[in-house]
Amino acid sequence: MMRVTIDNLTFGYDYRTVLKNVSFKLNSGDFLAVVGNNGSGKSTLVKCILGVNKVPNNKILLDDIDINLYKSFINIGYVPQKFDDFNYEFPITVNEILMASRYSKISESEKLELLDKIGILEIQNENINNLSGGQLQRVFIVRSLMNNPKLLILDEPTVGVDHDNVKNFYKTIQELNASGITIILITHNISESKDMFTHVLSIIDGEANFRALDRGENKND
Ligand SMILES: Nc1ncnc2c1ncn2[C@@H]1O[C@H](COP(=O)(O)OP(=O)(O)OP(=O)(O)O)[C@@H](O)[C@H]1O
Ligand SMILES: [Mg+2]
Repeated sequence: MMRVTIDNLTFGYDYRTVLKNVSFKLNSGDFLAVVGNNGSGKSTLVKCILGVNKVPNNKILLDDIDINLYKSFINIGYVPQKFDDFNYEFPITVNEILMASRYSKISESEKLELLDKIGILEIQNENINNLSGGQLQRVFIVRSLMNNPKLLILDEPTVGVDHDNVKNFYKTIQELNASGITIILITHNISESKDMFTHVLSIIDGEANFRALDRGENKND
């Protein structure tokens, strides 16, 4: 459960402005879809919210705390945008990677339940370097959910994931959202899940348009 406020954020790399005067407000339990063409600044925006991209004071507030003073990034679950040349330098299993990312005291049975829901229970002892792209993506999804996040940031989480597992994933996400977790999801495929969103942010040439939806308004499309 987390509130996210972006107040007139402008951000760029070096001299190039990527995001121009972006503003929006999310309440606890909101579900935001972020859409826009390749290179429009979607991942850049979420990296600002994650504190990876440094922003000026009072531009991003998490639960009304300036991000530059925010100390509890453990509350944020994150699935990064997939990269294809991912490789660990040393052998490590799915289970080991999950245990290493576990900060809160999720029990063994909760962990197994999560692995089962996301459909990777049977590969928990596989070496991470031997996984397919979609399996690896689902390891990242489980990892993002393990620490009881209050805010989930998902950057194209279902790229490379097959149809059945996409459905399972959105079912889990919907349950989490119903329990009050705020979600920001970047997607090029809004139809996968459009009846779940409360808001849409579309970024065009760095300028963002934010609008609220009636949840389910598109259900019968
Ligand atoms: N670390 C960086 N340093 C310099 N420029 C960057 C960096 N990261 C992104 N950019 C540039 O910022 C712009 C926005 O990139 P970003 O990754 O945010 O786009 P995106 O909307 O997520 O695109 P996609 O749909 O392809 O994932 C692009 O022109 C990109 O080249
Ligand atoms: Mg991106």
